[in-house]
Amino acid sequence: MTYKIPLPPTPVLETERLILRPLEARDTPAIQRIFSQWEVVKHLHASVPWPYPDDGAATNMAQCLDDRAKGLKFYWAITVRGSDELRGRIDLAAFDPERRDGRGFWLDPLLHGQGLMTEAADAVTDYAFRTLAYPWLYLTNSTANTASGRIKEKQGAERAYVEPRQYVSGPGEAQVWRLTREAWLARRAG
Ligand SMILES: CC(C)(COP(=O)(O)OP(=O)(O)OC[C@H]1O[C@@H](n2cnc3c(N)ncnc32)[C@H](O)[C@@H]1OP(=O)(O)O)[C@@H](O)C(=O)NCCC(=O)NCCS
Repeated sequence: MTYKIPLPPTPVLETERLILRPLEARDTPAIQRIFSQWEVVKHLHASVPWPYPDDGAATNMAQCLDDRAKGLKFYWAITVRGSDELRGRIDLAAFDPERRDGRGFWLDPLLHGQGLMTEAADAVTDYAFRTLAYPWLYLTNSTANTASGRIKEKQGAERAYVEPRQYVSGPGEAQVWRLTREAWLARRAG
């Protein structure tokens, strides 16, 4: 297997309705505005501060840019074609066989339910398997987060196990999925 370490520069990924571009410091105000909503954070890990502090996005942005500089993760701003403004975020971790949260995402609630994150997740997943040749991805969401789980299910991921986890909304259960390169390529071919 060939894993490209350190990570290559974050590429621009295009889908039918979206352009995923590298996250930049200028996205901080949009993140502060969109991310600081209960609808966005309720199913996220309890390490996300709530109520969301005024400097929450700036603190997180510094961490993201540092992770990217160290080659730990790709971060994309999700933009809708026709506007360069961030409307959500998606990330992909460098391949690590021990890692269980290989990809993360959130989207402006105004855009939920239109299949947009399915589109973004497909583009990032295709990049991971086809371009970077990851052998598998482990993915995690709260069992209560039906939409997030459904995206994984539609991609051909299989449930691996569940475990207790603390979420912003309180104690819950994490659902861990495994998606293999073989399953992904077979699905895309078929
Ligand atoms: C999870 C999230 C990114 C989904 O984004 P989205 O663009 O609305 O998702 P999609 O429109 O692509 O929908 C994905 C699937 O979930 C289904 N779905 C969406 N909301 C649902 C709900 N409340 N209950 C059941 N199914 C739901 C959709 O119908 C779709 O399945 P389908 O194609 O079979 O119909 C979005 O809800 C979000 O940003 N949530 C807050 C942050 C978050 O929880 N991130 C994930 C952490 S693991």
